[in-house]
Amino acid sequence: MTGHAKSHKVAIIGAGSVGATTAYALLLSGLVAEIVLIDIDENRAIGEATDMAHAAHFTQTRIRAGTYADCDNAAAVIITAGVNQKPGQSRLDLVKTNYAVFESMVPQIAAAAPDTILIVATNPVDVLTHAAHKLSGFPVQRVIGSGTAMDTTRFRHELGKAYSVNPRNVHAIIIGEHGDSQIPVWSLATIGSMRLKDYCSQAGKPFDKEHTDGVSKRTREAAYELIKRKGKTNYGVASVLVSILDPIINNADAIVTVSRVGNYEGVEDVALSMPCKLNRDGAHQDVPLLLDADEREAVRKSALSIKEVIESCKS
Ligand code: 2OP
Repeated sequence: MTGHAKSHKVAIIGAGSVGATTAYALLLSGLVAEIVLIDIDENRAIGEATDMAHAAHFTQTRIRAGTYADCDNAAAVIITAGVNQKPGQSRLDLVKTNYAVFESMVPQIAAAAPDTILIVATNPVDVLTHAAHKLSGFPVQRVIGSGTAMDTTRFRHELGKAYSVNPRNVHAIIIGEHGDSQIPVWSLATIGSMRLKDYCSQAGKPFDKEHTDGVSKRTREAAYELIKRKGKTNYGVASVLVSILDPIINNADAIVTVSRVGNYEGVEDVALSMPCKLNRDGAHQDVPLLLDADEREAVRKSALSIKEVIESCKS
C-alpha cells in the first residue's frame, strides 16, 4: 500500500447486500482512506455505515453515509444500486427497472465527480455499463463493468477443484457477457504454465468434452445456484470489486477481465468483457487475445445478444 493510495476516497452507491459487503471488504482491505456509502434509503446507508464505523479501530479507513454530492473528488464510484435477481430470473430480466435507476442516478454522480472512474456492478452489468457510459459522457476507459471478472474467479475455482490445483495456479478466463452467453476461453487456459490439455495428459487427468462442459456449466450457473440457496450473491462480487479497484488506486497495470464499451467481432458500440489493463486512468483495451474461430463466433453472438437488450432500452 502506498501513501498515495491512503489518500483516496471511494463512493459506493447502494447500501443493499452487494454495496454493504463491498464497503466492508474495502474497509478491511485498507486500500483507501475514506468510503462514502450512498443509498436512496438514507437511513439504511447511515445504519450500515455506522455499524461499519464501529470497526474503525481495526482499520485506518473512515466510513460514513453521504449523498451524490459526496462523490466529489472520489477516485472511483462503485455502483451497486438496483434490484437483484429472484430465483429463476436471468440478469437480463432486470433491465427495465435498473435502467430507470441509472437514468436518474448516473448524471448526478457525473456532475458531482466529473473526473472519477465509474465501476458498475448492477445487473445486467454489460447493458448498464453501456448506459453509464452514455449517461455520464465519460470516456470508455473510465466506465468499467465488473463483468466476467466474477465468472473468471468462479472458472478458476471450478478448474482448481476439478484438477486439485490451487486456483492461483490456474490461468483461465471467461469473456463476453456476464450472463448466459459468456465464453470460457479453453484454448488459452493454462495450469502451472502448461497448456491445460498438455497438463492433463502429463498429469493423467481427464480433458474431454464431458469434463469441460461440466466446468463451464457450473461456472455459468453458479449465481443461479446461490440465488436458489441464499437468495443473492454478495461475498464473491464484493471481493471482485475490491480486486478491480486495487490496480486503479495503486496504478498497477493489472490485467483483469472487465466490461467496457467498444466494438467486438464486428458488433459496434456494445459493452462486454475482455482482458483489460487497469491503472489510475481506468481500463485500457490493449490485451489482444488470440481466440480460435469458435470462440470468436461465440463472442460475436454474445455481443449481439447484449446489443439487442441495449437497443430495447431505447424504446
Ligand atoms: C453474480 O454473478 C448475480 O451477477 C451476480 O454473482
